[in-house]
Amino acid sequence: MPYDVNTAFRPRSNTNRKVNTMSSFLELAKTRRSVRTFDGNWPDGAVLTTLQEFAENMTNPFGTKIRFAFLNAENEDLSSPVLTGEKEYVTAVVQKGASNLEAAYGYSFEKLLMKAHELGLGTVWIGGTMPRGKFEKACHVEENEVMPCVSPLGKASERMSMKEALMRKGVKADSRLKFEDLFFDENFDTPLPESVAGNKGRLTDALEAVRIAPSAVNKQPWRVVVIDNAAHFYVKHDAGYITPDYDLQKIDVGIALYHFESQLISEGKQPSITVEDPGLPTPKHIDYVATVRF
Ligand SMILES: Cc1cc2nc3c(=O)[nH]c(=O)nc-3n(C[C@H](O)[C@H](O)[C@H](O)COP(=O)(O)O)c2cc1C
Repeated sequence: MPYDVNTAFRPRSNTNRKVNTMSSFLELAKTRRSVRTFDGNWPDGAVLTTLQEFAENMTNPFGTKIRFAFLNAENEDLSSPVLTGEKEYVTAVVQKGASNLEAAYGYSFEKLLMKAHELGLGTVWIGGTMPRGKFEKACHVEENEVMPCVSPLGKASERMSMKEALMRKGVKADSRLKFEDLFFDENFDTPLPESVAGNKGRLTDALEAVRIAPSAVNKQPWRVVVIDNAAHFYVKHDAGYITPDYDLQKIDVGIALYHFESQLISEGKQPSITVEDPGLPTPKHIDYVATVRF
């Protein structure tokens, strides 16, 4: 049984806050949700400038360059069938075949979208429900580049559109898998319940920050095996997410890496992210992605 009312979380605090002043990443992440209904106004110019500067100075642990483009929806004639009232988009582009493409992409774009959230803007990862060709043209995607996802940027409307409410219901967006379905102690045979994660380098909050992260169709494909002071991140593949140039579910794992690292940093730790497969036996359809040492 994948969903459990006890594990449901409700990050329903409205995203129309002023600039966020929360002390831990987890607190901030708990107030995030995908926003698909906007108030129809342009995002504040100063906020957008702050975000653009943040994007220009962005780094990621994989050293893979991600190019962000901010696009005026009206000028570029951009829209998405799942969105209402959006005026601005941000897209992210990466070189085809770049090293750790998906992990770097998920990490970097989530870093930008969490910054947008911190600044009071609503966002939603869009990897499928968009006229892809129009967006690629608007951000000048070259032959050797790929643009897996985009996001709108704006103030959330006070009320969700009916289609947004239905969409959230359809993917059970307010639920997540349980700790012990996602996280493991030393090997994939030993689930790591929340009560035990507290003893393992006090990882409860960092793993919770992973658990509540966004993922394509809310599949939550991240799996984590904790061994000593290392958390090894894996992807559990579902059918239909691999394109010739990237695996959308590995992008989800990049998002998870960013959430885990950010929570550890807000706890005063100094985590590092590397790619060093520990060679553990893995269940079917599960592949190694990266490791966080803390
Ligand atoms: C890589 C990725 C791709 C996504 N693509 C879409 C999309 O094409 N359309 C959409 O409406 N939502 C998309 N989402 C949003 C997810 O549906 C959403 O994150 C998930 O249902 C959990 O809801 P929450 O973000 O409100 O917690 C995507 C999310 C991720 C991480």
